Amino acid sequence: LTAEAYPDIERNPNFKVLNQDDVKYFRSILDDDEIIEANGDDLVSYNQDWMNKYRGQSHLVLLPRSTEKVSKIMKYCNDQQLAVVPQGGNTDLVGASVPVFDEIILSLKQMNKVRDFDPVSGAFKCDAGVVMRDAHQFLRDNDHIFPLDLPSRNACQVGGVVSTNAGGLNLLRYGSLHGNVLGLEVVLPNGEIISNIDALRKDNTGTIGVVTGVSILAAPKPKALNNTFIGLESFDIVQDLFVKAKKELSEILSAFEFMDNGSIKCTIEYLKDEPFLLKKEHPFYVLIETSGSNQAHDEEKLSAFIKSALEEKLISESHMAANIDEYNKIWTWRKSVPPACNSYGGMYKYDMSLKLKDLYSVSEAVTKRLNDAGLIGDAPKPIVASVGYGHVGDGNIHLNIAVREFTKEIEGLLEPFVYEYIQAKKGSISAEHGIGFHKHGHLHYSRSEIEIRFMKHIKEHYDPNAILNPYKYVTAGPRSYCCD
Ligand code: MLT
Ligand code: ZN
Repeated sequence: LTAEAYPDIERNPNFKVLNQDDVKYFRSILDDDEIIEANGDDLVSYNQDWMNKYRGQSHLVLLPRSTEKVSKIMKYCNDQQLAVVPQGGNTDLVGASVPVFDEIILSLKQMNKVRDFDPVSGAFKCDAGVVMRDAHQFLRDNDHIFPLDLPSRNACQVGGVVSTNAGGLNLLRYGSLHGNVLGLEVVLPNGEIISNIDALRKDNTGTIGVVTGVSILAAPKPKALNNTFIGLESFDIVQDLFVKAKKELSEILSAFEFMDNGSIKCTIEYLKDEPFLLKKEHPFYVLIETSGSNQAHDEEKLSAFIKSALEEKLISESHMAANIDEYNKIWTWRKSVPPACNSYGGMYKYDMSLKLKDLYSVSEAVTKRLNDAGLIGDAPKPIVASVGYGHVGDGNIHLNIAVREFTKEIEGLLEPFVYEYIQAKKGSISAEHGIGFHKHGHLHYSRSEIEIRFMKHIKEHYDPNAILNPYKYVTAGPRSYCCD
């Protein structure tokens, strides 16, 4: 697949085109391994997103190892009006972390050190470029956990998830990531460094800049982890089961995830040799996780819950993990849904909040629309499957349209239909993945004119030259190269 072209967006003519004097300056402040210049296809992994959907044309990647170097880079870019895209693990799902045109890529990946950990308060400080998997490992070794988990944990970085306020698989238990951030170190677009990374528990601030360091409240590692994978027959029953789980598993309930049959069918193909967890196929599946302090107690509680759900005929079949390997295996079936959908070539992706009673209806409406157009099926039809899954506990559904190719026809059927549907139901067009490039210009489906005006004012205040991650979210300037 080739990446999408952007016929409706014009490069902001105020931005300077990078020249050899600029590169010379960057070379004067950076080591050789902190700068990569384009040479053939060298920069593809930085220019192209994980979904193969967006591809920029940057000629330069800077990979500074210190906050001071980030500051020098930003000051120079601001003075010279060179546009910059900060990049973490490049796992984002809305085209936010790759350039649109020739913006310089500022990768945080060489800022990857843990700075400090206080086992008494749980305060964990690290560079922005620490990979989430490594943060989890470090904290696990210290009897704690990072308060967020994502399917992209092996690649995404702490600074990226904090700056996007990623939601993830355990929000139900640990709350929004921003609620756990204690302090930040941020480089403003003009190069100034502001830091409250030593902040105490209650000290909230907000800004726009490059996150270079994060202090976050780690949670104590649960002594007991259990999970179960369940098959059920309708989305109404998924909701009934959620109500029951909140009542009966109460304080130990830490995740309640759902997947429709299409999600699991793609995952069965993707995981090929891995035997599926249940005996039969079902219209819906739910993964329930408990995290507590007493293995025997939690296991008994979860088993009793499953037994009574079977007796009440809420659920048809379940598979409970008997040990940690099975626990991990059960999570693999949930975490593999996104890569499974992406494995046919690419995917269109939506991430929405809706009232629970409406949550799955958007997936049904979209699937019907694509089916009616005769676009879903075996090759040469362009769509492999249109599937819904997500976080019931947070009222958040992900809609993945797994495709063999991106086409204007599919795009025209999806948008603005999806956004209008969400607006009519008073939901949000971005529950946790953000606005990025994909949804720029669409914020008004979920936000009022006044709110968008305020966002623009904040952006203009901190980034008057609009050099930071342009063409995305909200940007000041003429319509042809800005948003909303
Ligand atoms: C998930 O819930 O799996 C994540 O938000 C990632 C995704 O949907 O691709
Ligand atoms: Zn999600």
